[in-house]
Amino acid sequence: MKIVLATSNPHKLQEIKDIAKDINFELALVGKGFDPEETGSTFKENSYIKAYEAAKLTGKIALADDSGLCINALGGAPGIFSSRYAPTPEKKIEKVLLNLDGESDRSAFFECNMTLVNPDGKVLFSSTGRIDGVISKEPYGTNGFGYDPIFFVPSLNKTMAEMSEEEKNTHSHRAKALMPMLEYISKNITD
Ligand code: IMP
Repeated sequence: MKIVLATSNPHKLQEIKDIAKDINFELALVGKGFDPEETGSTFKENSYIKAYEAAKLTGKIALADDSGLCINALGGAPGIFSSRYAPTPEKKIEKVLLNLDGESDRSAFFECNMTLVNPDGKVLFSSTGRIDGVISKEPYGTNGFGYDPIFFVPSLNKTMAEMSEEEKNTHSHRAKALMPMLEYISKNITD
């Protein structure tokens, strides 16, 4: 079975492949440079845009995710703008830490929406996952990507970048959105 994964982000592709390793289907990275304009105002709208674009391009069922970091004291920013918040991962982290300077409420969450769309644009299944945490005062850890080094998860006493791949793939917003999606795919998509 071939489901196209609507991302050109190799980290996300790897995480999704790792989580989905027991399921018998293939995920193909849509050609590098795949970057439809994310004009939605929610993670769900943007994941639909990416999935539909990939499904139209390939004529296959496509799975897309849209995710980001929402910081309560910043009114939910960077949110859907997480990937566009600053030009590099280091600068994004610097900007978050600067914007939270002196702020006592450092609570935040990662959210992920996944949408499975057919080439006609019909939504076959949609799911959402979330993980709560706190923005640390400085970066810790070297694993993962994006905002992982400053996203501290109190129940595990470590940042997302200090987690092993297995830990992240058990607890992350992406893993939580992916579990029901994989169940849907394994039960309903057969060819
Ligand atoms: P998207 O490709 O539009 O979904 O962008 C999501 C952005 O949110 C990424 O580029 C990262 O900056 C951030 N993000 C999403 N998931 C994670 C994660 O698991 N760890 C760290 N940053 C993430």
